[in-house]
Amino acid sequence: MDNAMRFRDRVVLVVGAGSVGPGLGNGKAAAILYAREGARVIAADVSIDAAAETVREIAGEGGLAETARVDVTSEESVAALFAGPVAAHGRLDVLHNNVGMTRPGATASASLADWDFVFALNLRSMFLTCRSALPVMKAQGGGAIVNIASISAHRWLGSPMASYDASKAGVIQFTRSIALEHAADGIRANVVTPGLMDTPTIVAPYTAIAGEGQIDAVRARRAAAVPMGRMGDGWDIGHAALFLASDHARYITGQEIVVDGGITRAVGFNPK
Ligand SMILES: NC(=O)c1ccc[n+]([C@@H]2O[C@H](COP(=O)([O-])OP(=O)(O)OC[C@H]3O[C@@H](n4cnc5c(N)ncnc54)[C@H](O)[C@@H]3O)[C@@H](O)[C@H]2O)c1
Repeated sequence: MDNAMRFRDRVVLVVGAGSVGPGLGNGKAAAILYAREGARVIAADVSIDAAAETVREIAGEGGLAETARVDVTSEESVAALFAGPVAAHGRLDVLHNNVGMTRPGATASASLADWDFVFALNLRSMFLTCRSALPVMKAQGGGAIVNIASISAHRWLGSPMASYDASKAGVIQFTRSIALEHAADGIRANVVTPGLMDTPTIVAPYTAIAGEGQIDAVRARRAAAVPMGRMGDGWDIGHAALFLASDHARYITGQEIVVDGGITRAVGFNPK
């Protein structure tokens, strides 16, 4: 296998391929990396502008990518993504599920609407995309799924967000289950679990938790809490995802790579 072009001519669907703010999120970085290794990337996002920004960056490097609009909380929207842009390619080699967000807050005062929103966005979304992708992959003889979780599935992160924590724990076991359901079909499913990453998506929730103007202080505390002394970035998540999606991981399924600078192997931190 050509190490640098592991996805040549492969169709890769990155769901949540944009970034919520300026800079580089996990999904955007992964989309760029797949394209650098020869993939035809479908950059799907609820924000067509965010997806277009990712596609612009890929095209600027000479890569192949197209935008697609999807709202992963909508069954109809996910079905349309597969009936339209995915079906147009005639195959799907990699499904990379990146969408996920938190609605922080104490459980005793949390609303049912927030709980349902977080589960719909983080977990039910992956059920919907996988349910559509699995028959396509089975019919073509195989494929790879990478789902993005969070270390909050394993550890208290210093502030209450039980819906996020529980939904991300669900992502991990959901992925293990579909991996076993389809192990004999040539379909692999694995998880990448980010730790404390410095991406645009942390700004809104941590501003809500710590207060206006506190984001740089939060960044510093998050960095200091990591045994390696710094947060990770989108590239770190993307590289782990590409490994799991590639044929280099052809005998790996139902597994999780934790990308966290050592934090889940440590005790006594509070990034808040
Ligand atoms: N940054 C961190 O510290 C960190 C830590 C642990 C886990 N994660 C996980 O990483 C993933 C997010 O990474 P990111 O940096 O790319 O995030 P991001 O928030 O920038 O989101 C990526 C894209 O998802 C899109 N999106 C939001 N709602 C959508 C919907 N309903 N349908 C379709 N697209 C939608 C956004 O428009 C955005 O472009 C999440 O699963 C998150 O839980 C991040």
